[in-house]
Amino acid sequence: MKDLVLGIESSCDDTAAALVARGREVRSSIVHSQVAEHAVFGGVVPEVAGRSHLRAILPVVDDALAQAGADLDDLRGIAVTNRPGLIGSLLVGLSTAKALAFARGLPLVCVHHIEAHVYAATMEREDVDFPCLALVASGGHTALYRVRSCLDLELVATTLDDAAGEAFDKVGQLLGLGYPGGPAIARAALEGDRRAIAFPRYRSKDGAPGFSFSGLKTAVLYHLRGQDALAPTPPPEEIGDRPDVAASFQEAVVDTLVENTLRAARAEGLDTVLVAGGVACNQRLREAFAEHGARDGLRAIFPSPAYCTDNAVMIAGLGWHLLEAGRTADWNVDASPR
Ligand code: KG4
Ligand code: ZN
Repeated sequence: MKDLVLGIESSCDDTAAALVARGREVRSSIVHSQVAEHAVFGGVVPEVAGRSHLRAILPVVDDALAQAGADLDDLRGIAVTNRPGLIGSLLVGLSTAKALAFARGLPLVCVHHIEAHVYAATMEREDVDFPCLALVASGGHTALYRVRSCLDLELVATTLDDAAGEAFDKVGQLLGLGYPGGPAIARAALEGDRRAIAFPRYRSKDGAPGFSFSGLKTAVLYHLRGQDALAPTPPPEEIGDRPDVAASFQEAVVDTLVENTLRAARAEGLDTVLVAGGVACNQRLREAFAEHGARDGLRAIFPSPAYCTDNAVMIAGLGWHLLEAGRTADWNVDASPR
């Protein structure tokens, strides 16, 4: 019985393909990042992303097959992200997957990008107890899910405005640290004092778990401009306390994520939290979950950093489970931004 799945991911600004056996055994993983193409604009430009995926997709699939020493004839099936994401970007991956699957008579499965991020946290270990809670914090999403199995997720809470990664990217821009802001802020924060500036932490009025980062972003802006909202943002070289701003901002995001996640875990009666998405790379977030979790008797599980940010291993991995469950897609299946 063939056990290899080809995964294809193109929902945002990474073109990725991977070969994974039986949902866990990684045979190859190729990620072509578009960061350099979007950096000049300070964020992802959908039209640029779509065109870049078109150029990269076939070479990336070829590289994934070559790295695994595999052929399309070795595949059990093809898994592709078809939702949510940038529609023009999703269509490149979906059309490629459909064409390859149709030409080779292979089954096709469509994967939800967020569910794949959650799956990434379970993929590298055998000891995850369901049900558990999942926090997905990426550039496009920040939400909590009750996870009954890797194929059964229920939304518990989400952000009222920005995603956590988006806040990192916007503040990175304000501080002149470039795009993406997350890794750059984490580096700058190493030199700063996380207690230097008391930035606000979001907490809902009724105590229910949830997230919001727009107030925090505005607080950073006022800190940089003084209290005059019309004043220009100072150029990066004139921000004397940049490491302190970075460290204090990062601490506010981390506190907001950890506090609201722990509150949801208590409310849902769950003692394991899967933490996934690009922001889960953040070292301070990992430390804080370890500290607070130990106090609350809660276990936090993170994927390896390479499987936190967008990749196709998580798509091929979850794709295997969808194939096993017989959840194959029709040829007329479409992509969806939501
Ligand atoms: O999951 P991902 O690769 O793409 C989306 O699905 O959005 O996440 C990218 C996001 C970016 O906003 C980036 O700034 C953030 O993850 N990120 C980080 C770190 N590494 C990446 N945020 C904080 N700390 C990091 N070390
Ligand atoms: Zn993602």
